[in-house]
Amino acid sequence: MGKFISIEGIAKRYPAPGGGQTAVFEDLWLGIGQGEFVCVIGHSGCGKTTVLNILAGLDEPSAGTVIVDGRQISGPSLDRAVIFQGHALLPWRSVMGNIAYAVTSRWRAWPRAKVAAQAQRFIDLVNLTGSEHKKPAELSGGMKQRVGIARALAIEPKILLMDEPFSALDALTRGTLQDEVRGICTATDQTVFMITHDVDEAIYLADRILLMSNGPGARIAECVVNALPRDRTRADMHRHPAYYPLRNHIMDFLISRSKSFAADMAADYDPRHPPVVKPGIPEPQLAPALVAEGGPARRSGAPSF
Ligand SMILES: Nc1ncnc2c1ncn2[C@@H]1O[C@H](COP(=O)(O)OP(=O)(O)OP(=O)(O)O)[C@@H](O)[C@H]1O
Ligand SMILES: [Mg+2]
Repeated sequence: MGKFISIEGIAKRYPAPGGGQTAVFEDLWLGIGQGEFVCVIGHSGCGKTTVLNILAGLDEPSAGTVIVDGRQISGPSLDRAVIFQGHALLPWRSVMGNIAYAVTSRWRAWPRAKVAAQAQRFIDLVNLTGSEHKKPAELSGGMKQRVGIARALAIEPKILLMDEPFSALDALTRGTLQDEVRGICTATDQTVFMITHDVDEAIYLADRILLMSNGPGARIAECVVNALPRDRTRADMHRHPAYYPLRNHIMDFLISRSKSFAADMAADYDPRHPPVVKPGIPEPQLAPALVAEGGPARRSGAPSF
């Protein structure tokens, strides 16, 4: 898979209280292929939102660059849509108005009917049909988040950036929205970079799960390949033989290795090619191309750090 997004050696540093600087994270490298769904997992404060904001163009790295579709990013762009945890809807506009506004910003020359048709398509996709004329104040939290999702997808961005988009929702609504987002992103081959704290959410949605070690000086400790079949469902994924190895691998990282990563860092750790792991799949079945692309493969379940 070619690199559609290329994060090249980015760092974020802030002045330290006693002088000098503290690096939230250092020397982060990552390639994301077109149509790939990547989730990032790591403890609070390791810099996930900062990375997402840099991708969005809302923040600047202290070092390094980000290339999207062959161009270095500088500032926000309608190519990169962000779904925040809060909904950030325009309160005086209806559901249709909020989405149509975004569509118009993207395609200024479009006639009203075409804008409305595009907005309606995405209103239908997130199951808000019938609520087009409601204002945000008349919507539940889940419905507001659906508007945010429809608005982001209706501008057909090159990348969809999501920062814990479902964390404020009840479990039932969260599950339904996960299904909707997964369905739409698969159907439209949407490239996604998403932050979550929910391991099952990552396993359900992501093709690849990045594990970030704790800061300061956070790193991409591992790129975990999701070996579950692409047609997995929320209801059946736990029955797949690779599910528990994958889940346990991520849990073990969060519980212990995320903290000890810096101290125990393998001598051959290369920030440009963080270890690729594929829990639940025996070593011989690892595709050579995958290993070559992502870096040295480690035996799943037996990490060397
Ligand atoms: N202006 C600032 N000055 C100093 N440190 C800052 C500043 N802004 C952010 N930080 C630090 O950057 C680090 C990363 O913040 P970020 O919001 O990216 O973390 P996160 O991984 O998204 O955490 P969470 O899971 O809680 O959302 C934090 O430790 C925070 O204290
Ligand atoms: Mg955050």
